[in-house]
Amino acid sequence: MDFEGDLAVIDPVSRIEGDVEMPGDKSISHRLAMIGSIAEGTTHIQNFAASADSHSTLGCLERLGVRFQESGSTVEIAGKGLAGFVCPETVLDAANSGTTVRLMSGILSACPFQSTFVGDDSLSRRPMNRIMVPLRQFGARLTAREDNFLPLTIGGSALRGIEYDLPVASAQVKSAVILAGLHAHGKTRVREPIPTRNHTEIALQEFGARLDSDGGLVEIEGEQVLTGRIMTVPGDVSSAAFFIAAGIGAAAARLRIRDVGLNPTRTGFINLLEDMGARITIEGLRVGGGEPIGNVIVENSTLSGMEVRKHWIGNIIDEIPILAVLATQTRQGIRFRDAAELRTKETDRISAIADNLRALGVVVEEFPDGLSVPGGQTIRGGVVDSRGDHRIAMAFAVAGLFAKSPVTIRGASCVAVSFPGFFETLKRLCR
Ligand code: S3P
Repeated sequence: MDFEGDLAVIDPVSRIEGDVEMPGDKSISHRLAMIGSIAEGTTHIQNFAASADSHSTLGCLERLGVRFQESGSTVEIAGKGLAGFVCPETVLDAANSGTTVRLMSGILSACPFQSTFVGDDSLSRRPMNRIMVPLRQFGARLTAREDNFLPLTIGGSALRGIEYDLPVASAQVKSAVILAGLHAHGKTRVREPIPTRNHTEIALQEFGARLDSDGGLVEIEGEQVLTGRIMTVPGDVSSAAFFIAAGIGAAAARLRIRDVGLNPTRTGFINLLEDMGARITIEGLRVGGGEPIGNVIVENSTLSGMEVRKHWIGNIIDEIPILAVLATQTRQGIRFRDAAELRTKETDRISAIADNLRALGVVVEEFPDGLSVPGGQTIRGGVVDSRGDHRIAMAFAVAGLFAKSPVTIRGASCVAVSFPGFFETLKRLCR
């Protein structure tokens, strides 16, 4: 395996083995940084994600006057409540991070000044209207290019609680509404069509917020004061997914991935693999900071195949690229439908997966809302393009392990968006 600059060349391997730890969960790190900033008193976050995205959140918070110290993977935040936020002197650059813009917009809607988010080319093509609609109902003023795209300007004001039914299942939009609701006058209710990750709800409760969450309905009373906490971020299960898939698909494998976050709103990928016959064991299950954590042990397995529809999609949304790669190694293949949301991610992931699989000699059928990858296929090897999307780069690195000849990934350095050190970690486990 070779990786230098923006190019990675992955050689086929037959054995994967070892004990490994993932970087801190990206979704949880964003939330703890934001919630620690709006809380009063000091917050210590241990195992904060090394990801570029989580650092975009820290950078934006810094421009808003939040003081923090970073040392290794620990971040200490001096929270002063919302009153500690000041009008930024420059635009807030969220780079590639949708979570930074969408969640922080909920907070900034309640701040008595104007702030503007910008981002990279990918983020500037992603829809923001989905947060603008509910945040305007709270009473905030938001403007964006074509009323949908960055730059997004938020004019905060005194907010009134709302009732909102999410038209799309999105944890980012749900979280934006909850974070605005926390600072609004009166109660806010948000209902989601299918459950999505609930890290915002859990973290807010850990910081002392009163919040009810039941069967897809979240209710939060406004004008609450939060208190700083010591928190540890679990390992990122979405990063672990690439290693779990590598272990399952390799001819011989035994991998132990330590201290992985196992929140049931994120483990659909593991459940789905188990349903297809994967040999996965969880050991040492415990709860830390309100989040379930455990070690995941993976052995090479033979998978059947399945059709993946709506009720799975919200839970496995970030794991579909790697599942599509793994589908080639199943007996009957995997068919994904109701997943049009994938077209709004860092890149159009449906088209990126389909084009790259085809470039490796794999047969794939593309639909407007998904794709179908027949099983029992040989991955030939060849050249793929990440399109600047970290999860596409990592999924095709795993494809290289299963291929007949090397897979070259163009645009490989974007793995740092969620997992700096991904290639080094993978190399260490390949025998
Ligand atoms: C995230 C939610 C998901 C996911 C993204 C992280 C979060 O996005 O794809 O990588 O941290 O809330 P959506 O809420 O847009 O589905």
